[in-house]
Amino acid sequence: MEERRLGPVVGLGTWNTFKADRRRAQAVVDAALDAGTRVFDSSPMYGEAQRSLGIALGNRREDAVIATKIWTPSPHEATVQLDDQLEWFGGRVDLEQVHNLVAWERHLPWLEEERARGRVTRIGVTHYATNAFPELARALGTGRFEVVQLPYNPQERACERQLLPLAAELGIAVIVMVPLGSGRLVARPPSPRELAPLRESGVETWAQALLKWSLSDERVDVVIPATKQPERARENAAAGSPPWFGRDERRFVERLARA
Ligand SMILES: NC(=O)c1ccc[n+]([C@@H]2O[C@H](COP(=O)([O-])OP(=O)(O)OC[C@H]3O[C@@H](n4cnc5c(N)ncnc54)[C@H](OP(=O)(O)O)[C@@H]3O)[C@@H](O)[C@H]2O)c1
Repeated sequence: MEERRLGPVVGLGTWNTFKADRRRAQAVVDAALDAGTRVFDSSPMYGEAQRSLGIALGNRREDAVIATKIWTPSPHEATVQLDDQLEWFGGRVDLEQVHNLVAWERHLPWLEEERARGRVTRIGVTHYATNAFPELARALGTGRFEVVQLPYNPQERACERQLLPLAAELGIAVIVMVPLGSGRLVARPPSPRELAPLRESGVETWAQALLKWSLSDERVDVVIPATKQPERARENAAAGSPPWFGRDERRFVERLARA
């Protein structure tokens, strides 16, 4: 594994799942940590999610890699967002990402200063929309981002054209958002019989097949499925270990995802 690589691992997203119910967030974080999950993705955009995550981690903070975001065009608001995060996450953000490319050129210099001070460990950038990919590529092309977060699953493959090759070329780690298509891809799962050929790759469930599909692309480091259910946090974490899929298994999953 290269020194800069974060994975391949399964992390945990917190959008829509950590907003309101602190007890649920606690149960999901406990289950995820116990199952070996380390990367937790959040954002000021996700309501109370960052605070809930910080509280849920409690004295296990050092077991976690906090990947959160700056989401504002305002330099003042950005410092408020970072100060909150430093309070919730024990004085350090392991990965600070510019959310949806918002004012990324303005934020980069002060993020680099924070990295030099040690309050931020890595700097990244994210976007969910295909029409923003050219701008995302321009940001990566500066060589100043260490991590990119983008959508990737068997039905959303636009990043394969430019962004994944560029990330690989520049040694940029890749975090995959929406690996389950925000739930759409798992709404009508294939039957256990249809999944049987994947069992020897350690796959028991359709969600695991989809997560392993992304992680088996060697340009991908982390997938961050979100769930409100502790048992699913455990199920998802189990997709983060080898054996990885080869080309045939990936194609098989793509066919099942089309069915
Ligand atoms: N930077 C950005 O612009 C951006 C945009 C979107 C997302 N993200 C990040 O990416 C993370 C993931 O994206 P997402 O939350 O939209 O979607 P996702 O992880 O693709 O899908 C989440 C959905 O899948 C369900 N699910 C999770 N595990 C499952 C399992 N084992 N079996 C069946 N269903 C399962 C969840 O329902 P239950 O809760 O009922 O399990 C939830 O409805 C976000 O939480 C966020 O951290 C970033």
